[in-house]
Amino acid sequence: MSVKLAVIYYSSSGTNYQLANWAKEGGQAAGAEVKVLKVPELAPQAAIDSNPAWKAHLEETANVPEVTLDDLEWADAIIFSAPTRFGNVPGQLKQFLDTTGGLWAEGKLANKVVSAMSSAMNPHGGQEKTIQAIYTTMYHWGAIIAAPGYTDPVTFAAGGNPYGTSVTVTQDGKLVEDVQEAVKYQAKRTVDVAKALQSL
Ligand SMILES: Cc1cc2nc3c(=O)[nH]c(=O)nc-3n(C[C@H](O)[C@H](O)[C@H](O)COP(=O)(O)O)c2cc1C
Repeated sequence: MSVKLAVIYYSSSGTNYQLANWAKEGGQAAGAEVKVLKVPELAPQAAIDSNPAWKAHLEETANVPEVTLDDLEWADAIIFSAPTRFGNVPGQLKQFLDTTGGLWAEGKLANKVVSAMSSAMNPHGGQEKTIQAIYTTMYHWGAIIAAPGYTDPVTFAAGGNPYGTSVTVTQDGKLVEDVQEAVKYQAKRTVDVAKALQSL
């Protein structure tokens, strides 16, 4: 039985969409069935229109399906990817997580295998805090956190974040560290842990 992996992201300017797509490639290479899903946008249209990169990214990703609660039920494993907002998750992701109370109450989120990724403008701009904020909710779900740790040298080359892959992104959208292989490794590890759980 193949692992079902949902890669759930929020992105204003494309960085976390890129991370999500690398995670998809890594998950598929590890044998998983993968869905890339975006968190619904909540910002007022006027705010989006005032930022050309944001507007362009939303238009480019108009066809990416929005995540639903059914996707969470479907998934054995989930990778979240979200930009840092003042050292925390974007409100869009938090709002989505706050709709999961019903599933949580039915015990349907327990034992999901989860890991998370993030980006920020500064190398120490809060990526680790953002990933850990996601994990705080995951502990309440009863999820199994499959952080990369330092289980593969690829993490060092990507900046060394053991909580989950993270990247620095310049104001014009360039990724500073080369994290592609670390993202793919993180996806493989998440899928591998989910596979191991299936065999129990
Ligand atoms: C409201 C807001 C708050 C932000 N807070 C931080 C921050 O605390 N530290 C930081 O380094 N970058 C911060 N940033 C920059 C974003 O993290 C950066 O634009 C994002 O990681 C790019 O990801 P995306 O292309 O997927 O949207 C902030 C951006 C916004 C709009």
